[in-house]
Amino acid sequence: RHLRPVLALDDFEPAARRKLPRPLFGYIAGAAETNAALRDNRDAFAEWAFRPRYLIDVSKRSIATSLFGQRHNAPFGIAPMGISAIMAYRGDLVLARAAAAAGIPMVMSGSSLIPMEEVAHAAPGSWFQAYLPGDEARIARLIGRVEQAGFGTLVLTVDTTTMGNRENNIRTGFSTPLKPSLRLAWDGATRPLWLWDTLWRTLRRHGMPHFENNYAERGAPIIARNVERDFGARDHLSWAHVARIRRQWRGRLVVKGILRAEDARRAAEEGIDGVIVSNHGGRQLDGAISALRALPAIRVAAGGMAVMMDGGVRRGSDVLKALALGADFVFVGRPFLYAAAVGGEAGVRHGIEILGQEVDRNLALLGCLSVGEVGMQHLQRIRGVPA
Ligand code: FNR
Repeated sequence: RHLRPVLALDDFEPAARRKLPRPLFGYIAGAAETNAALRDNRDAFAEWAFRPRYLIDVSKRSIATSLFGQRHNAPFGIAPMGISAIMAYRGDLVLARAAAAAGIPMVMSGSSLIPMEEVAHAAPGSWFQAYLPGDEARIARLIGRVEQAGFGTLVLTVDTTTMGNRENNIRTGFSTPLKPSLRLAWDGATRPLWLWDTLWRTLRRHGMPHFENNYAERGAPIIARNVERDFGARDHLSWAHVARIRRQWRGRLVVKGILRAEDARRAAEEGIDGVIVSNHGGRQLDGAISALRALPAIRVAAGGMAVMMDGGVRRGSDVLKALALGADFVFVGRPFLYAAAVGGEAGVRHGIEILGQEVDRNLALLGCLSVGEVGMQHLQRIRGVPA
């Protein structure tokens, strides 16, 4: 019912703003410092225009995409987003199930409130994303557990050397641990739908959400645990850690957060299977180059390694531009979490459907039969400086 007015991915945002308590909405929507990186993620797409070809028979076109030898029904997946289960009831499971049903990959965040085993069980094709814990023994235990759970693809997020400066979380009253306050109570009380749909159902059926389910041997309640402190310092991590993980992990290994060609080349040398070009949705280094701008040079450096990207993808046309600029696959973050918050699994499926139809329609309008055909010949720079 409430999905009817949602005609595009961006329509989920105002609906989520109405439903979620202010600090929670702010946590999703926000980025770091001045939001320059966040804004540029969108702006970068507007600098390219399409050069379509007509009178080509595209009646037998397909947006199916193969990645790591696996077929997906669309060239996009769902990016990892932490603590989704306080935004939507059983958030990670909702995202994972919707993605599995639609035949696209979902990357489960290691900072989930739901244990990885549950997600792997509910949606076997899901990927697992990890922030590396600070010490060797914990890294080895984590990798062992991810393998045991049955995940085939491990994503290491490397752009979180230290936590980005998310001033907006302080302004809206979001923190971990979530501190009970009069304001939080008010924010919650004015959002009865979220209180009922998400918080009440969660507390009644599963108890207080636990943080660090996936890192610590035992998670701790979200109102008690300081994730940053418990996680240990990560600013000493280097390629040596990645190399060790490569030796231990037999599945596909993906590095997320790469923005430089040198780093992509290094990843290839270390035997990494793919990189996700990303500035973390603008949430880490403010002013960091957007993935779309970084993409062409990384494509050249990556050789045969899979190149994926995320950041600011909101339309089928954005997906096609990213593919034209060298991506093999793209990921979408915020809109799908808003969709989960607003409409649960049906909401996410609706979002996937919309985006898939946009890709398909624009592929036809571009004069292509498959996403593999889309290339630089379909684009022209109309603004900005040439890369
Ligand atoms: C994220 N992102 C993220 N990335 C990651 O590797 N691990 C994580 O736990 C999270 N958590 C997270 C939470 C929320 C609420 C958001 C919005 C983002 C970053 C995410 O995977 C992705 O890089 C960006 O969100 C992509 O940009 P768009 O599509 O949101 O513009």
